[in-house]
Amino acid sequence: MFSEEEQASCTSSSSDPPSAHFIGTKDDVVQAKRVTKLVGGRDVLVLCHLGQLHAMDMRCYHSGGPLQEGDIEEFDGRMCIVCPWHQYKITLAEGEGLYQKVNPSSTPPKPTWHSKGIKQRVHLVTEVNGNVYVTFNDSLDTIDSDFYQTERYRTIMNKAKP
Ligand code: FES
Repeated sequence: MFSEEEQASCTSSSSDPPSAHFIGTKDDVVQAKRVTKLVGGRDVLVLCHLGQLHAMDMRCYHSGGPLQEGDIEEFDGRMCIVCPWHQYKITLAEGEGLYQKVNPSSTPPKPTWHSKGIKQRVHLVTEVNGNVYVTFNDSLDTIDSDFYQTERYRTIMNKAKP
């Protein structure tokens, strides 16, 4: 995970970020709004929303859905990408899975938002001299979306292709 200080650094910097992967120019990323790229053996999605750059694993932690095709919406005050396959909500900043729960004994039943915890690996985005870079979140904790970045998954997907 990144500290708030590290997250804030994704707006601008003057020196090359360490261990970073070049994604494209900021102008191109902002214009495209979403860019997917295989870098360092990982498929990442970089998106620009409301002037902020975000990066995360490209395939949804639930079943590998294409997050680059998901809508971005606010839930419980948090910006989320909504997976187009089964509408799972993932916070842009942390990669948390959000869900709604209803207490059946409350009247009237009122749904409330809850977190499943970190499910999608999010990465640090840095802008240097008009170029956008991604530095992998190298947390050693296994995150559910990691499976869709493995050779095992790619082999399965390649075999499934017609
Ligand atoms: S694959 Fe994303 S919600 Fe199911």
